[in-house]
Formats: sequence, C-alpha cells, structure tokens
Amino acid sequence: MASDTSEVMLRATMLEKHFQMGDTVVHALRGVDIAVTKGEIVAILGASGSGKSTLLGILGGLDAPSAGRVEIAGVDITKMNENELAEIRNKKIGFVFQFFNLISTLTALENVELPVQFSTGGQFSSRKRAEELLALVGLQERLRHRPGQLSGGEQQRVAIARAMANAPDVILADEPTGNLDTATGESVMNILFDARRETGATLVLVTHDAQVAARANRTLTMQDGLLV
Ligand SMILES: Nc1ncnc2c1ncn2[C@@H]1O[C@H](COP(=O)(O)OP(=O)(O)O)[C@@H](O)[C@H]1O
Ligand SMILES: [Mg+2]
Repeated sequence: MASDTSEVMLRATMLEKHFQMGDTVVHALRGVDIAVTKGEIVAILGASGSGKSTLLGILGGLDAPSAGRVEIAGVDITKMNENELAEIRNKKIGFVFQFFNLISTLTALENVELPVQFSTGGQFSSRKRAEELLALVGLQERLRHRPGQLSGGEQQRVAIARAMANAPDVILADEPTGNLDTATGESVMNILFDARRETGATLVLVTHDAQVAARANRTLTMQDGLLV
C-alpha cells in the first residue's frame, strides 16, 4: 500500500552478507528482511556473532551487502557510488558505536563539528551547532577536552552529539552502553532516547540489556544471520 510505504524510513530486503575467509565462507547475514517506520525505536537482541553489527553497518551504508537491498526513505542506497553513500551517511544517518570511535586528536567540540563541516550545503553553522549539541548532552563544560581526557560515559555523550550533528533521519546504535558500567550506561541511554525524541529520528539499537529493549517499540532477535 502506498500510504504504508511512505511511512517506512528504513527497509532491507533479502539482505545477505558473506565473508570469504581463506577456504571458508562466513554467512553473516542469510536473507534479512526488516522495515522500520519513521520515528520507530527498534531494539535488536542476539548472541555474539549472530550478525547484528554486520546488519547495522549495511543498513547505514558503511558496508555493502553481498545480496539484497537497503532503502532509506524510499531511496535504494545499494547501487550508490562511494561519494553518494558518504553524503547519505553524513546527512541521513547518525552512528553510535560501542567503543565511541571518536577522533583522539580532536577536542569534543571538533569531533562534533567535523560532520557538520563535511555536510555540503549544510543547514547548520558548525561551531554553534556543535556547542548546542554538546550542551544538549550535558557537556558544555567539556568542549576543549580530548577523548583521552573524558570518561567513557562522557565520550559516548560526545559520540551521541556527533551522531545528531546533521539532524539525521536514522540513528543506528551498536551496543552503545556495552562498554559502560550500569549507572553510566543508563544515563547515556537516557540521553540517547532524549536526543531521539527531540528530533523524532528513527532509532535502531543493538543491545544485550532487556531493560533497554523494553523501551523500544519493537524488539527483534538475530540468530545465525537471520531475524527471528
Ligand atoms: N569483516 C569481517 N570479515 C570476516 N568475518 C566477519 C567480518 N565481520 C563479521 N564477520 C563474521 O560475521 C559474523 C557476524 O558478526 P557480527 O555482525 O560482528 O556479529 P554480532 O555483532 O552479532 O556479534 C561472525 O561470525 C563474524 O566473525
Ligand atoms: Mg556486534
């Protein structure tokens, strides 16, 4: 139905991913179908090695599938060249990773400014935008700190601010509290959910935490390369 289709923000169809490792092939994804509605929060659970990170990477255009298709807001990203993909990743997607993946030589402010600066014809002035976002995650007093001078929770808050830089339609978070203690993880998760609510972004979240999963609109489980 056309009305349903227009509400789907993220759709993957028959996604497969194979890794050739010498003589053996690892089937990381074996035909994954998923459709996520605009503004929806989907939690993905599943054992280590079941393909969760592979799926998120492909949904966000970080990696190409071996077969199948990914559409973001109805646009097929699977056939895009690297420049087109880079623009989609920069403008439409915000990534949050377990190990923060900040640039260690840059300050918090510079880490958040970078994606705004990369954005061609962007909608934001980078310095002001980065300051606003860091204030939103409670780090207005840490603008000049580098990642090594920040706690894990603070680093993840910088990463959340960075993910929000260009007001993405989709946030993909891969075990964002997996490297944090319980209390810090909880506060970081609250910040992530608040940021999502402010923007109405669609959120796909990999987690091992049942409490976090309970806050999602829908929970899916990955098992041996398939969503079950
Ligand atoms: N770049 C890669 N090269 C080879 N094998 C990979 C690669 N990335 C993931 N895999 C394999 O694919 C499977 C799924 O991995 P992953 O998506 O990281 O699982 P999860 O995030 O659920 O722990 C695992 O067997 C893993 O070893
Ligand atoms: Mg993983």
